[in-house]
Amino acid sequence: MSGIALSAARLLLIIGGGVSAYKSLDLIRRLGERGATVRVIMTAAAKQFITPLSAAALSGDRVYDDLFSLTDEADMGHIELSRAADLVVVAPATADLIARMANGLANDLATTALLATDKKTLLAPAMNVRMWLHPATQRNVETLRGDGVLFTGPDEGEMACGEFGPGRMAEPLAIVAAIENALSASTRLALASGPASAMSARRDGPLDGAHIIVTSGPTHEPIDPVRYIANRSSGLQGHAIAQAAYEAGARVTLIRGPVGIPDPPGVDVVRVETAREMLAATQAALPADIFVGAAAVADWRVETQGAQKIKKDAQGAPSLALAENPDILAHVARLSPGRPRIVVGFAAETENLIENAREKLRRKGCDLIVANSVAEGSETFGGTDNRVWLVAARGETPWPQLSKREVARRLIDHLVKLLDNHI
Ligand code: C5P
Repeated sequence: MSGIALSAARLLLIIGGGVSAYKSLDLIRRLGERGATVRVIMTAAAKQFITPLSAAALSGDRVYDDLFSLTDEADMGHIELSRAADLVVVAPATADLIARMANGLANDLATTALLATDKKTLLAPAMNVRMWLHPATQRNVETLRGDGVLFTGPDEGEMACGEFGPGRMAEPLAIVAAIENALSASTRLALASGPASAMSARRDGPLDGAHIIVTSGPTHEPIDPVRYIANRSSGLQGHAIAQAAYEAGARVTLIRGPVGIPDPPGVDVVRVETAREMLAATQAALPADIFVGAAAVADWRVETQGAQKIKKDAQGAPSLALAENPDILAHVARLSPGRPRIVVGFAAETENLIENAREKLRRKGCDLIVANSVAEGSETFGGTDNRVWLVAARGETPWPQLSKREVARRLIDHLVKLLDNHI
């Protein structure tokens, strides 16, 4: 995965129970100022030092603390909580939390999230100097380093307990710098291989060795620093295609506009906002064997983006001059050399679905169009189901109403067959 800017990062901050927990409140503030989204888990011990209310006020989100809360499981399970983050940060990381992590315990929400995460973890230890220097803690730290866990601090100095030495939690700005550093490289953890692992299951997949690029979600085209043009795409279909391709053994690059759904595990994700960024990311990700343009790319952008927020004034409503966005699908389909062997587009139409899809197939020069109706009442946008037609030069095939996951799986099966015929 390419690096993530702090301003776009989603962080899961786990606050352990230590005197320095108060510094974590400042850390949330500093991260928020830099544009990062911070979701907070507090251990039971942390609540002895600071209140969930202050952490919630600073993060702008509720604080998670209870593994067995049914509401949480309905809203967002603990797996989801840790997977939705780009990086997990533990500050303060107490001797007890470090010991539980090193032994793979999952006896509260914090340790369960730590065990379930597929992203890297950064620890900012804080404890009494003797606890830090104790062979048990040092052994646990070594174990975690071996697992790829990152550390910042502890600093040396006078401690709350009156002793002197290493054990003070790193200062919030030093932790911010360590987070930025961690985000600059891939934060995704490789799964351990083994008979039950998804990695080993997918190695023999039919797309083993193939590279597939999938675009997904909408694009946002800024009008001024606070407003933008968007559309209703949820990214569910594109993300499902990326996941199905990964499960079929492909190396997947998912280039996604702003969406509110988690990244599928195992794929390389590039986050973009605008159509032009999506094109640049696509060009950077090529070459590929297959390109699937499932994103709802905005056709137009505002020609000149306002540097300041446009004010409401007596002159009345401003008019916006629009410029055409690059057509990413047409660009990829017409590459020569460098055209992926299969180029797939989507057609979301409110009327004359098949006719428009056929016309799109010709105009854009792709091999296949997945056509779906977004007419009123179709519930395609944001819904879990989709009813599609596959439109190719040879003709079109209607598919029954299926879940988007199933559409994705069948589409990948279909692409595997096309690829076999091409070779
Ligand atoms: O022209 P229209 O937007 O209906 O075409 C839809 C298809 O073209 C989708 O596959 C979409 O991802 C792709 N597209 C694109 N770049 C654009 C517009 C659409 O890649 N600027």
